[in-house]
Amino acid sequence: MAKATEFKPTMVGFLCNWCCYGGADLCGVSRFQYPPYLRVIRLMCSGRVDLAFIFRAFAKGADAVFIGGCHLNDCHYDPEGNYDALGNTLMAKRVLEHLGVNPERLRLEWVSAGEGTRFAEVMNDFSAKVKSLGPLGSSEGIDTAELKSRLEGATDLVPYIKLVERERLRVPVRTDEGYRKFFAGDEFNELFNELILDKLVMSRIMGILRAKAASAGEISESLGLAASDVARHLDELSQQGLIRFDEDQTLVAAAV
Ligand code: FES
Repeated sequence: MAKATEFKPTMVGFLCNWCCYGGADLCGVSRFQYPPYLRVIRLMCSGRVDLAFIFRAFAKGADAVFIGGCHLNDCHYDPEGNYDALGNTLMAKRVLEHLGVNPERLRLEWVSAGEGTRFAEVMNDFSAKVKSLGPLGSSEGIDTAELKSRLEGATDLVPYIKLVERERLRVPVRTDEGYRKFFAGDEFNELFNELILDKLVMSRIMGILRAKAASAGEISESLGLAASDVARHLDELSQQGLIRFDEDQTLVAAAV
């Protein structure tokens, strides 16, 4: 009997130069073992990891994304970039959840340059987690092309999300606990639903219509949304000139 092929996840790791990259280096020099799935991208600070990097990594086939930075209050830049990384990670997890992607595929950890052992422990743990989750897409029950379209839609929305973050999302306390509380709280939920969720749905509708013409009913079924909600979004997209009816009276994306 043919042996089942072992799932070897593709994991993209964005590591800050000053701490986590040093920790990874020390881990290697010390010959601590961890699975060879991580493809490292070195950045000067974890705060440099844009939301778009995360969505693009998943859209291009990563099964998981890891962000490693200096411990909070140890970032080498002012204002501290690792708080931005924390905010971005919590926001990205929320968006991924909405797209149907398990948010546990994204992980942020603080690792100093002297913590080679910790780096190995984190990577062993995260690799095991991702292996248990399985390949991105098929494990979520989402077809690869559909998932790519959802992630690309979210990437297109990143400038808008950043604007919302800058103008409306003020985390009151600069601590790890303060950030996690804020992003799990009612105020964030309301802002997310009011300002971001609708745009994500509209971007998913545009993704569907860019791929092929569809009726409102088909869109409603594909998104698992009530017909009245879909009608509201279609109305807004139509007013913006982004969609139109073709000769068969099905909806299509307007040429721009
Ligand atoms: Fe390491 Fe900012 S320099 S997280």
